[in-house]
Amino acid sequence: MALYSEKVMDHFRNPRNVGTIENADGVGEVGNARCGDIMKIYLKIDDGIIADVKFETFGCGSAIASSSMATELIKGKPVSEAMALTNKAVAEALDGLPDYKMHCSVLAEEAIKNALEDYYSKHPEQRKDE
Ligand code: FES
Repeated sequence: MALYSEKVMDHFRNPRNVGTIENADGVGEVGNARCGDIMKIYLKIDDGIIADVKFETFGCGSAIASSSMATELIKGKPVSEAMALTNKAVAEALDGLPDYKMHCSVLAEEAIKNALEDYYSKHPEQRKDE
């Protein structure tokens, strides 16, 4: 059996939403001290909706695939849904990750949450609406 699903390979080879957003409404950066991988997420938020999302990932193939899938999962969704995204949902959407690669999907969840926290810190009034 292949170690990585076709979806993982697809999102690794053709990652969606790579890049940065100028004047982003929220930016989140996380790293894993053990492997040294770093992920940065940029959010554009309009009316409580994730209007655009981009990522930069300096990391392994699973981290790149996880970032790509995570951005696809939250794009166009309400902020509350993005906040509820779990690394398990990202891994499931990729048709699974090997156990020892699950931490790569955790980076994606944490980077999105950090970016949303950054957004809320600039727009505290929005948090009440959630
Ligand atoms: Fe560290 Fe994948 S090995 S994020």
